[in-house]
Amino acid sequence: MRALAMSRLTSELDDALEQRTARGLRRERRIVDSAQGARLRVDGREVLHFGSNDYLGLAGERRVVAAAQEGAARYGVGAGASHLISGHFAPHDAIERELAAWIAPCPSARALLFSTGYLANLAIVTALVGRGDAVFADKLNHACLNDAALLSRADFVRYAHADLKALEQRLASSGAKRKLIATDAVFSMDGDIAALGSLLELAEKYDAWLAVDDAHGFGVLGEESAADPGNSGRGTLAQLGLVSERIVYMATLGKAAGVAGAFVAAHESVIETLIQTARSYIFTTAAPPMLACALAASLALIRDEPERRAHLFALIDRWRDAAAALPWRTLPSMTAIQPLILGANSEALSISDALWKRDIWVPAIRPPTVPRGSARLRITFSASHTIDDVDRLAEALADVAQ
Ligand SMILES: Cc1ncc(COP(=O)(O)O)c(C=O)c1O
Repeated sequence: MRALAMSRLTSELDDALEQRTARGLRRERRIVDSAQGARLRVDGREVLHFGSNDYLGLAGERRVVAAAQEGAARYGVGAGASHLISGHFAPHDAIERELAAWIAPCPSARALLFSTGYLANLAIVTALVGRGDAVFADKLNHACLNDAALLSRADFVRYAHADLKALEQRLASSGAKRKLIATDAVFSMDGDIAALGSLLELAEKYDAWLAVDDAHGFGVLGEESAADPGNSGRGTLAQLGLVSERIVYMATLGKAAGVAGAFVAAHESVIETLIQTARSYIFTTAAPPMLACALAASLALIRDEPERRAHLFALIDRWRDAAAALPWRTLPSMTAIQPLILGANSEALSISDALWKRDIWVPAIRPPTVPRGSARLRITFSASHTIDDVDRLAEALADVAQ
């Protein structure tokens, strides 16, 4: 009887999985067997790769790896407990102080490490708003900001991508007790940059928090200048020169920083509130301290080697010139995320497959990661690519387009 009931349950799952396959939505995992980089060993072959968020080429960087090894030798490989029990180590504390000083979005800022960006976003939204409050979210925000809003039980109000008029209407008509505007700083699948200055003005006008997810801007954006030395790679807020106690800044550390985890930088009252109340901070094991050691090395490289960013932007320029000659739509992105919009899921899969046959790996991105009808190749560049790599990709795509 039990076996029979179980087979109905599993056959329902199998039917749903088959429907996914029929709609071109079945995902497959390829197996990587080398360090992250422009060239990877995947499923037994060597490929040129344009699908990671390792924008500065730090994930396999010798000095970062050595710092992780030294960290493991000193602290072991596991934190053993959550931060509030006994898992908060000296390297965690050091990196939080360093990030607070470097990334402060307001005076009296502190920083707090999380094991992942997903957990950090859950913490921010659920700690700052709840029932009777409202979250206002750009429709192209990352899924974890949306999940955070749903988990918070606040009203979840979405506005069309980058439509600040629509946002203002919704803010003006809201009777919510507390309001929070949530936005990606660099939109993860389109690569464009949010109008954070205008969003901050709206936050001020309507007395709202502004939660900024800079997963794809930290490390990449933020120009070094004589007036503001040390700005290199500080992210989108630094690039736009924005400072406010309303800003709750989150950046991930598994993308440009090349390691894992995330941090929130915000006013000290926000950070203390997260430590005391955020369930996704309290009820999870701290990230291994060896990763904080690796992060210390990678932050030093972000700061001290601005040539990585300069090279990345040269690659992006080269690509944008080449992509203009291809038959597919590009988006107005000046960041390392350079999508080619293909439309149908089957088209995205077949172009990705044609590249794979030429030993180039660009994963096809399909709904629900992107809106229906906008399946794409999400091409990402890294400082570990060369100009020749970019040319090879453009030539392969021109060949596939014939
Ligand atoms: C915009 C954005 N926010 C948050 C995350 C989640 O970060 P993590 O991978 O560290 O959980 C991601 C990607 O993973 C992202 O693209």
